[in-house]
Amino acid sequence: MVAVRVRAPAKINLQLTVGARRADGYHDLATVFQAVSLYDEVVATESTELRVTADGDEDIAVTDLPVDETNLAARAATLLAAHLGVEPLVHLHLHKGIPVAGGMAGGSADAAAALVACDALWGGALNRDVLLSLAARLGSDVPFALGGGSSIGYGRGELLTPVLGRGRFEWVLALAADGLSTPAVYAECDRMRTDRVLPAPRVSDELMTALRAGDPDALGHALRNDLQPAACSLYPDLRRTLVAGDEHGALGGVVSGSGPTVALLARDAEHAIDLAVALSATGVAKTVKRAHGPVPGARVVEEH
Ligand code: C5P
Repeated sequence: MVAVRVRAPAKINLQLTVGARRADGYHDLATVFQAVSLYDEVVATESTELRVTADGDEDIAVTDLPVDETNLAARAATLLAAHLGVEPLVHLHLHKGIPVAGGMAGGSADAAAALVACDALWGGALNRDVLLSLAARLGSDVPFALGGGSSIGYGRGELLTPVLGRGRFEWVLALAADGLSTPAVYAECDRMRTDRVLPAPRVSDELMTALRAGDPDALGHALRNDLQPAACSLYPDLRRTLVAGDEHGALGGVVSGSGPTVALLARDAEHAIDLAVALSATGVAKTVKRAHGPVPGARVVEEH
């Protein structure tokens, strides 16, 4: 095999409850991820050196994306090569459909895709558990990008339990003009609640019931993100986007992860089209996209 193409999805956090800051600097979380149909693709090709290149869909800015060895996909290839005892001689070409620094785990999707692609290229045939443990070393959201679907995440987000939900949910995603740094949003969250005693985070029963029933109205009510006040404090325009979603009939709206993408839940596919058009017309977001979830995690789509 000389080239492998892998596709990996974006995620939305339907719930993100942030507990206390731990000694290692991470925060204990209770989160519910849903993989949605915005995808990055990684093509891994045999090469004489480790090299990363990137481009994106026309509405995705890739200028802020590092293409050196700090890129999470490059780090994934290096980690996997060390595990397999081979040299990381691969060209990784990233095609971005997931906003960069948007709170939708685009970098994590690229890392998961690179793990799957390089494993196929180098004939590792590693099982899921090994890939998941390598993924957790790369970032908190990388294990979820491997599995996709809908999952509960504990720990720093890497301890996953799949949710056996029903149905398909239709989302409208409002992409912002600039990105937000995840560490900066967590730090702002800490600053905004220094004097609060925080209970151990747990997943909401209301949200689980909504997912199991495939009930968009109930899911819309249950959306929660503890990072939302911090993201809105650093990016005040997000409040306007959330209000506009509400005014145009979204069943619920939430900042995705550390933002600044805002995810708005529609009743059905037709409503999602109307909501996307109405939201575009308000001009509150740079770009408006539609996506559905849940969808599968990182998968090989082509090899030759
Ligand atoms: O794990 P990942 O590299 O994606 O995390 C990026 C940053 O987000 C961490 O360095 C940390 O500042 C913050 N973070 C956190 N608690 C988590 C996950 C991420 O504080 N559970």
